Amino acid sequence: MRPVAPQALSRVKKTATNMKRPIQPLALLLTTLPLLGVAACDVGHGESLAKARYANCAPCHGNDGSGNRTVGAPAIAGLPVWYVEAQLRKFRDGSRGAHPDDIDGLKMRPMARTLLSDEEVKVVAERVSKLPVVRPAVTITDGDAGRGKAMFGTCVACHGEKASGMQDKGAPDLHRTGDWYLLAQLKKFKGGVRGSAATDLTGQQMRPMAATLPNEQAMKDVIAYIRTLEP
Ligand code: HEC
Ligand code: HEC
Repeated sequence: MRPVAPQALSRVKKTATNMKRPIQPLALLLTTLPLLGVAACDVGHGESLAKARYANCAPCHGNDGSGNRTVGAPAIAGLPVWYVEAQLRKFRDGSRGAHPDDIDGLKMRPMARTLLSDEEVKVVAERVSKLPVVRPAVTITDGDAGRGKAMFGTCVACHGEKASGMQDKGAPDLHRTGDWYLLAQLKKFKGGVRGSAATDLTGQQMRPMAATLPNEQAMKDVIAYIRTLEP
């Protein structure tokens, strides 16, 4: 290494002292600029994070969130943030999708666990809720809406007159996810495959309600009636 000449050293010191005063306004600018930059970046980061995380959902729920029956994945587009967030948290902590008989829940559970923090859960839930609602196709054709109407009386207290959901009850809109999925969930609640975990407080409220439907035909009937209620 070449020794540094003493003159060179003193030159450096001098420049540093000379710079001290005029540098102050500049320093202020330099410290605020990155802050502004960071704020702007955060928005961009949130967007790209949402996109990156949703890319993990698309293989089953579709790019547009319309679902895929063959893998048991329901339509999720346009579900409210609070509901999506609540369900993702449940899948993550095992309140939902951990029962050994919950074949479809067990598929979804590891997916929710790709979301590493509450913040990621929120970001992806917001993205899901902003996807335009895709009206699900009718797949159950042997339900009797007339018979279902009487049974739907029990559901109104939490899901509302039009089955469009009530946030304060934790009860979701029933028009967005498709009839086959509603039937699957009613069976799960009735059989205790969903809603029986000690930590699943809202699921526990829904369970006895599914039990009021005596059999599969009754479930199809109530679903047929729900379909007649325009959201
Ligand atoms: C491997 C396929 C698969 C992937 C990937 C996947 N899911 Fe799912 N998801 C499912 C299945 C299957 C269900 C239905 C579970 C059940 O029957 O209880 C489900 C259910 C859900 C539900 C519950 C809907 C409701 O009405 O209760 C939400 C919300 C959801 N998924 C969001 C997501 C998000 C967000 C991602 C990406 C982080 C994702 N899923 C990735 C298969 C998947
Ligand atoms: C005491 C309130 C309450 C009543 C009454 C009620 N539900 Fe629910 N329901 C809920 C809650 C809360 C959830 C969400 C459970 C969760 O967080 O996993 C739910 C979820 C559901 C789901 C699953 C939706 C999805 O996207 O996964 C279906 C289907 C459903 N209810 C149908 C019905 C039907 C049909 C009736 C009437 C027979 C009914 N509910 C009565 C509170 C209720």
